[in-house]
Amino acid sequence: MTALFSPLELRETTVPNRVMVSPMCQYSCEARDGLATDWHRTHLGSRAVGGAGLVMTEATAVEARGRISPEDLGIWSDEHAAALEPITTFISDQGSVPGIQLAHAGRKASIERPWDGHDPLQPDDGGWEVVGPSDDPWPYDDEAPPTTALDQDGIESVIDSFRAAAERALDAGFEVAEVHAAHGYLLHQFLSPVTNHREDDYGGDFAGRTRLTREVTAAVREVWPDDKPVFVRLSATDWLPDRDAWTVEDSVRLSDQLADIGVDLIDVSGGGIHPESSPDYAGPNYQLRYAERIREETESDIAVGAVGGITTPEQAAAVIANDRADMAIVGREHLRDPYFTMNAARELDATDEIEGPPQYRRAWGF
Ligand code: FNR
Repeated sequence: MTALFSPLELRETTVPNRVMVSPMCQYSCEARDGLATDWHRTHLGSRAVGGAGLVMTEATAVEARGRISPEDLGIWSDEHAAALEPITTFISDQGSVPGIQLAHAGRKASIERPWDGHDPLQPDDGGWEVVGPSDDPWPYDDEAPPTTALDQDGIESVIDSFRAAAERALDAGFEVAEVHAAHGYLLHQFLSPVTNHREDDYGGDFAGRTRLTREVTAAVREVWPDDKPVFVRLSATDWLPDRDAWTVEDSVRLSDQLADIGVDLIDVSGGGIHPESSPDYAGPNYQLRYAERIREETESDIAVGAVGGITTPEQAAAVIANDRADMAIVGREHLRDPYFTMNAARELDATDEIEGPPQYRRAWGF
């Protein structure tokens, strides 16, 4: 069997192949209410039809002020879960596994969606007050919305929001919960010394800065059933070599601690903490080296997913066949080709190794 099309067993969940649709914001809740729309149903559903083993939602806000843009998806009420339920049913009916990325944007919240200008939004202009580990705003060229450092009650309410969001996600039919701790959003803002200047138990040394991510993940794990997997997306590095910043060594250490909490897979990304953070290399597989390091250097046997610059079937197949990661996570190429996995099966001469929708079978030669 082609390794790319071999199932991945995580607890009692079987992901039918090693291709995952990377979480990607769609900025398509036109009513600005966080409720899934026809766009989300069609977008996520068609990637399941296209054969991806796991379809992950975009960053889904656990509370309204945790949205990046006003048009982001949310899961802060039962109504939000009800709007997502038909999507998970459809994804599961296609034989794919539905996953949800639970997210809070912290100080990077309250910004226009990209095609409306991507400018920070003020509270009196459709935006809201944002929160972070400290009160430094994201350094936009324009004025950022007001940023408040979370106090102890605020931190507890964030943890509760993640826990409640996970409970709702389960009701909505998701099989995988992914905690978003990457790309400079709230949890990453606590992890990184670039953004965390706290002097209490949630700042300072490695133990303090990682505490919120560990507590949020533990809260999610507590309500997520034992037979279903939990993922965490990390920025493996801040890509700020000249500063006191988050490093790959930190990610290896945290990954082992997350494994102890019951995390099954680290989704290994990078950057996003500061405008100056940029990859030193941005070609094919540009973050695979970090996934490999976490896989090799952790003491636990936690699985890893590689994301970044995977665009061809051969590449995705090689990541798995050469045992460099457990999952090939494909982002932008899935926006170009919802049938990435089915096309991969064709190109790799393996159409007999995936199911494919019976409606399309004759055309695709399954
Ligand atoms: C993203 N990315 C992203 N990441 C994440 O963790 N949550 C998200 O909601 C989003 N949103 C998002 C929207 C869009 C339009 C793009 C293009 C990207 C990052 C994405 O998941 C992925 O990590 C990167 O795009 C790198 O992978 P590719 O595109 O090189 O395969």
